[in-house]
Amino acid sequence: MLKAERISKWFGQQRVLEDLNVEVERSEFFVILGPSGEGKSTFLNIVAGLIRPTKGRLFIEGELVDDSQVVYVPPERRGVGYVFQSYALYPHMTAYDNIAFPLKMAKWSKRDIEKAVREVAEMLNITEVLHKKPHQLSGGQRQRVAVARAIVKRPRLLLMDEPFSNIDPALREGVRSELKRLVKKLAITTIMVTHDREEGFSIADRVAVLMGGKFAQVAPPDELYKKPCCSKVARFLGHNVISLNGRYLAFPPDGVVIGEGDFSGVVLDVEYRGRGWVAFVQLDGGLVKIYLDKKVQPGSKVKLAPISSVELHD
Ligand SMILES: Nc1ncnc2c1ncn2[C@@H]1O[C@H](COP(=O)(O)OP(=O)(O)OP(=O)(O)O)[C@@H](O)[C@H]1O
Ligand SMILES: [Mg+2]
Repeated sequence: MLKAERISKWFGQQRVLEDLNVEVERSEFFVILGPSGEGKSTFLNIVAGLIRPTKGRLFIEGELVDDSQVVYVPPERRGVGYVFQSYALYPHMTAYDNIAFPLKMAKWSKRDIEKAVREVAEMLNITEVLHKKPHQLSGGQRQRVAVARAIVKRPRLLLMDEPFSNIDPALREGVRSELKRLVKKLAITTIMVTHDREEGFSIADRVAVLMGGKFAQVAPPDELYKKPCCSKVARFLGHNVISLNGRYLAFPPDGVVIGEGDFSGVVLDVEYRGRGWVAFVQLDGGLVKIYLDKKVQPGSKVKLAPISSVELHD
C-alpha cells in the first residue's frame, strides 16, 4: 500500500531522514515509534505530500507520488487522511463543517456531504455535538472530529500523529481500542505515530522504530520486544543492556528472576508501582531495572537471572 524507497530529508544543514526504506501492507495497522525529534512527523508529512523529500521515491498503491524531482502528486490527490498531532481543527467552524470540509473542497453535492458526514459521525459517536465549535468540545470529542474528518472521504491511507496525546490518560485505553476496532472494520491502512511504547504495542500489527534517520527495526510488537535488533532499540524499549566479558546482553525488566542466578548486585532503590515494585540494581555490567512482586530492601545484596535475554551484536 505504501512504499518508501531511500527517502532522505534535510532541513538546511540538518539531516532528519537518511536513506529510509519501508513497506506498509494493505489494511495493516502500522505504528511508528521513536524519541522526540527523530523525524516521525516529518515522515508522515512526506507521505501526505505536505513536504517533499530531498531524495528518494514514494509509492502509494504502486503509484509513484513523489520522486523528489519532477513527479509530485499533491496531497488532495493522494487519497490520504491525516489526523494531526494537535488535531488542527478549524476553530471558527462547527464540528459538522470541519468534517464536511474535505468533501466541499472536492466539490461533493450538499446531499452527498450530509449523508457522508452523518454516517461517519454516527460511527464515531459525535452526532450530538456536530453543531458545536472545537472550543466547546472535550479533548476526546475533538479527537473524534479530527478522525471523522480524516476518514470521511474513505482514504486509502490514514495517517495519525500522536492522536491520543490530548486525551485524559484514564480514558486513553478505551478510546484507543475503539479506534483500532473502527479502522479494522473499515479496513483502512493506517500509519500511526507515537512515542509511547505501550500504546504502540497495544494497537500495532507491526511497529517500526525510527532512530538516526531510518527505521532501525520493523517487526510485530512481540517480536520487537523479545528480539530487539541492537542496543539503541533495546534501550528505547526500556530493556536493560549490560556488558558481560565484552559482550552485550539485553533483557526486559519483567524477564528477571531474583534470589538465584549468575549475576550479583546491590539494590540501590525500590519504587512502589501499584502492581508491584521496581528495583534498580547495580550489577558489575551496569545498572538494571527489574519488576518485582515482593519488596526488597535498598542496600541488600541480590542474585539475578535473566530468563529471556538476547545477545546484541552492535
Ligand atoms: N519545517 C522545518 N524546518 C526546519 N526544521 C524542521 C522542520 N520541521 C521539522 N524540523 C526539524 O526536524 C526534526 C524532526 O522533527 P519532527 O517534527 O519530524 O520530529 P518528531 O519525531 O515528530 O518529534 P515529536 O515526537 O517531538 O513530535 C527536528 O529536529 C525539527 O526541529
Ligand atoms: Mg511529531
